[in-house]
Amino acid sequence: MAYNMIKTERVGANNAVVLVTLNRPKALNALCDELMDEVGIAVTEADKNPEVGAIVITGNDKAFAAGADIKQMKDKSFPEVINGNFLSSWTQLTTTRKPIIAAVNGYALGGGCELAMMCDIIYAGDNAKFGQPEILLGTIPGAGGTQRLVRAIGKSKAMEICLTGDQINAEIALQSGLVAKVHPKEENLNEAIKLADKIASLSKPVVAMCKEAISASYELTLNEGNRLERKLFHSTFALEDRKEGMDAFAAKRKAVFKDC
Ligand code: HXC
Repeated sequence: MAYNMIKTERVGANNAVVLVTLNRPKALNALCDELMDEVGIAVTEADKNPEVGAIVITGNDKAFAAGADIKQMKDKSFPEVINGNFLSSWTQLTTTRKPIIAAVNGYALGGGCELAMMCDIIYAGDNAKFGQPEILLGTIPGAGGTQRLVRAIGKSKAMEICLTGDQINAEIALQSGLVAKVHPKEENLNEAIKLADKIASLSKPVVAMCKEAISASYELTLNEGNRLERKLFHSTFALEDRKEGMDAFAAKRKAVFKDC
């Protein structure tokens, strides 16, 4: 499929990773409807493709994404946003079963920060800046900023960020647990691809079950979550890959997974 606002390519040692590059550099990758629709389509296609094991979403050196497109949004009326269910298409990303890694260099603000938080793992370049500046525009986050940020870094820090619009740098984002690792900006995307490649080399159904269990921890009580985890763990025993993994360990050889 031909895209206008993003680029997609297959990367990694076995071409098993889909790299989605947000490609609206003049507007710092402001997330207009067309761009987010394209991201949704690309990610859904990657999720369905049996050759693909993981997805990386990135921007450019200056911006992962500087937020929802303010110019597109500024004249919208309440009936328009409510009747059109504005932003509902963004949730498509969160239904993906394959892991998504955000490689963030530069600004990840507003919807850009929310997009990164919809991904499963965030790797940050040392020039990354995260923030929810909506309050400065007379509005509030609308794609999970008030919810996912609290779960990622706790209420006090999330309040501080959302109520002031202040940005945090990569170092603070790492200390707070918002990102998994910080790399020099030149190496960040490559490190994200290496991580995606490693995940893509494992059993796809088992990776999907592991992601499902961790994602469910956002929504379930500890007891419910542990019950789901136990059921998914038991389910891995229906797979040849589970047998292969354990046989390979016992035989001191590398496991070869077949995704079944
Ligand atoms: C539309 C944007 C934009 C945005 C930048 N641009 N961010 N256009 N929507 N969110 C455009 C600018 O208008 C400008 O276009 C070009 O990108 C370069 O930006 P500059 O401001 O000139 O760059 P710089 O001086 O380096 O400042 C970078 C910046 C600043 C600090 C990131 O651009 C900024 O504050 N942007 C807005 C950040 C923000 O408020 N994000 C939250 C949006 S609301 P021209 O044509 O002048 O060259 C939001 C709601 C989420 O995300 C709700 C759920 C999704």
